[in-house]
Amino acid sequence: MFWMSRVRNRESTMNIFSSRSVTTTFNIISSLLLVVLFLALAYNSYRREHELILKGAIVNARNISRLIIETRDYLSRHVTNEPENNAALIPQVAASRVAQQMTSGSNYYVRQVSLRYRNPDNRPDDFELTQLNAFKDRKPGETWQIASKAGKKSLRYLLPMIADQSCLTCHGSYEKAPGFIQARFPKGHFSYGYHVGDLIGAVSVAVPMDDLYRQIGHNLKQDLLYDGVVLGIFIVLTGWVLHRSIIAPVKTVAGSISEVARTGNFNERLKLIRRDEIGELISSFNILMTELDNKTRQRAESEERYRNFIEIAQSPIITFMTDGKIVISNQKAETLFGLNKSEMLGQCIFEFMLQGEEMKNSIGNYFSGGSSELVGTTTRQKMRDVYGKLFDVDMVISVSQSDQDQMFSAILRETK
Ligand code: HEC
Repeated sequence: MFWMSRVRNRESTMNIFSSRSVTTTFNIISSLLLVVLFLALAYNSYRREHELILKGAIVNARNISRLIIETRDYLSRHVTNEPENNAALIPQVAASRVAQQMTSGSNYYVRQVSLRYRNPDNRPDDFELTQLNAFKDRKPGETWQIASKAGKKSLRYLLPMIADQSCLTCHGSYEKAPGFIQARFPKGHFSYGYHVGDLIGAVSVAVPMDDLYRQIGHNLKQDLLYDGVVLGIFIVLTGWVLHRSIIAPVKTVAGSISEVARTGNFNERLKLIRRDEIGELISSFNILMTELDNKTRQRAESEERYRNFIEIAQSPIITFMTDGKIVISNQKAETLFGLNKSEMLGQCIFEFMLQGEEMKNSIGNYFSGGSSELVGTTTRQKMRDVYGKLFDVDMVISVSQSDQDQMFSAILRETK
């Protein structure tokens, strides 16, 4: 059918999707959208987890550092003479032990460092050195960063310690320091000479992040796996629903239409089981078929009537198309030309006329110009039967309009 091929042509030039089935197109588009959506969601939650983990690590480091500073402040203020006899009560030493015990069993690392250290163990490493030096230029405050060492990531956290009056007992001038301090750190040692408000050192905490990051990496993978499964189920399910509810019925209708086009049999009806748009399509198809069926039957009936009518007419009658092809003839005409009905049909009427060419042009004129002197008037024509015998007839041609084409009926009368 011409309209179908036109639609098909337009489709094929439209885009890459037109050559695929609707289900495939739908699946491609929806999976792309969902993949993007899932990736965005997974990335978002990955980032949030990342942030949360970092925040948690910072909070832990801060709490440990504060505890150490508070312990030291408390001891420095209230434990004044005892350290002389019990080194375990020196604020630094006691605070270190507390920190050690707090973090034992974890892989946290806690130290108290100073640029002017008394204990070489408290010498700052590179990171701590940089930060402590930076504290000289700006107001000392909590600081942290993610550092990478030998491929391992860790959170480095530093909380500065500021000297108050109580610290100066042992960190002020050599002269005022208790005997056991003087004994351990001679006059001029760089650990003396602090004033209230001076930066005296910092608590340094390191939290290894690799394990934590590995965990969220694992979470991400699991998220993506679940998403993938959900996506798969979604695609299969929607594909199935789409196929069942739209594609298959539309295919059935399309199949019936081409079947009708092929056979010309308008008896075909589809079962109507739905009340949705597809149901509408099916019922439209059925209505169309009924309509066409009626039309063809009417046409066949009227043709039949016409045939009967010309059969009983007294004159030979031949109905032909613009190109001269004979489509209906009556018994009288057949006898006149010496042919039976089946031989007669399909012959070209112009072949039987001596001035066939002229008649053909005249019919053509009628067709293009809308009128011809030959049509409607009686003319004398020389004709020839199948044996070549010539004879004269009076001929009247009338025009009738069929569905697409014009048909001409020639009524003949033999002249004696
Ligand atoms: C009773 C004396 C005493 C008091 C009070 C004291 N410290 Fe110390 N501090 C020491 C000694 C002794 C050390 C060395 C400990 C060791 O050998 O590890 C030390 C070490 C430190 C260190 C480690 C760096 C280093 O020098 O090895 C810091 C930081 C520190 N003190 C800060 C303070 C602050 C802040 C205060 C006040 C809140 C304070 N100290 C009060 C005696 C004292």
